Amino acid sequence: MAKQAPSLMDTIVSLCKRRGFIFQASEIYGGIGNTYDYGPLGVELKRRVKDAWWSRTVTVRRDVVGLDSAILQNPRVWEVSGHVGGFSDPMIDCKTCKGRFRADHLDQLACPEKPSKHPGECHGELTEPRSFNLMFKTNLGPMEDSGSVAYLRPETAQGIFLNFANVLSSARIKPPFGIAQIGKSFRNEITPGNFVFRMREFEQAEMEFFVPPDENDQWYAYWRDERYRWYTDLGIRADKLRVREHDQKELAHYSTATCDIEYEYPFGWGELEGIACRTDFDLKRHSEASGTTLEYFDPQTKEHYTPYVIEPAGGIDRMALTFLVDAYEEEQLEKDTRVVLHFHPEIAPITVGVFPLVKKDGMPEKAMEVEEDLRRAGFATFYDEKGAIGRRYRRQDEVGTPWCITIDGNTLENDVVTIRDRDTMQQDKVQVAELRAYIDAAVRSWKR
Ligand code: GAP
Repeated sequence: MAKQAPSLMDTIVSLCKRRGFIFQASEIYGGIGNTYDYGPLGVELKRRVKDAWWSRTVTVRRDVVGLDSAILQNPRVWEVSGHVGGFSDPMIDCKTCKGRFRADHLDQLACPEKPSKHPGECHGELTEPRSFNLMFKTNLGPMEDSGSVAYLRPETAQGIFLNFANVLSSARIKPPFGIAQIGKSFRNEITPGNFVFRMREFEQAEMEFFVPPDENDQWYAYWRDERYRWYTDLGIRADKLRVREHDQKELAHYSTATCDIEYEYPFGWGELEGIACRTDFDLKRHSEASGTTLEYFDPQTKEHYTPYVIEPAGGIDRMALTFLVDAYEEEQLEKDTRVVLHFHPEIAPITVGVFPLVKKDGMPEKAMEVEEDLRRAGFATFYDEKGAIGRRYRRQDEVGTPWCITIDGNTLENDVVTIRDRDTMQQDKVQVAELRAYIDAAVRSWKR
């Protein structure tokens, strides 16, 4: 039988493992349902995604501040937010193969015993759907009884609502303003899958933007456009990205509008980030239940009001996956194929590779000096002296390093290096003293 070509998703999963982006968690013990560890390059990729999000959402703005709230909160929080009663997915079991599936995802799932069929199409007998709460339970303190039950947070957003009054009184800020946070969330997904797209432990980047109610619509449009632009500014191809407005049936009962920014993954269109109008629902619920007023007093109108909320909520792991998938290309060259990740330089885990042309004549020493100088100036660098120069370029192409510098005889004589561009493969001659300015300018002017 002819061997089937691996799917793009399989190719990316294998590249991630081989080059140290993402590993299966607990791999040497056989893994544990869809949890992943980020390796040396993956952790850099993820850190850069988080930095880029934080910089654009918080640092460069006057109207957004940051927060880092606890993963464990008072269990009442999750009752009041609706997560204890309603944060569930419909689950069904197969009485024949004992598989457990999300009832609303059957058409995307494969029967474990007959993978060419969807569950139910394989003559397995399915149970009626029943509700399955996605929150992970734990116990606080030494007693494992109902009084000690706590939950691992399923979203970072509630921690922001709980701190609304604290931030308002401490940060000298007034609506319209936002509180942003990045942190881990946990969901006991029934059918996790598609690599880091759907995991049980993942990281979210969420921002609650508090606005006067009559400014709700304009800020919703603003954040929807701003979040879409963030992805395209960082090089994501616009033809792979779309905004899908939820229709009336999909909207939560308290929401006036919600949309998803979707990406076309190798397995189809999927939600990358949601932007929701949450009205005054969360602040009012927590006000009523806690007895703490969560309102803003407008000194101009002398009125108290509960702000409306616009929430851009994205997943860092899905963002990292999107940058990986979107950057991946197998480029047909004259003699062979090169694998290249066209990361935006701000996202690339390594910015500059530095190589001596050969391992002699003082070239390694000079290359290490140049590499050290760039590293100390804040660039993410990688030094490599092993193998033919062409192979070293290709190794860096495969992990998305935008520029590689080669130290040769000309460098030793005239302090001039060769700098090669990942995307065009063109080479420039640059004075060592000009390198920092050259790379800085190239980062700023980079276009996909
Ligand atoms: N506070 C709103 C909220 O949590 P959500 O749509 O459930 O909304 C926001 O989650 C984002 O978090 C999603 O768009 C997705 O990027 C990410 N996300 C959600 N569940 C995930 C999972 N199981 N694995 C990875 N990322 C997930």
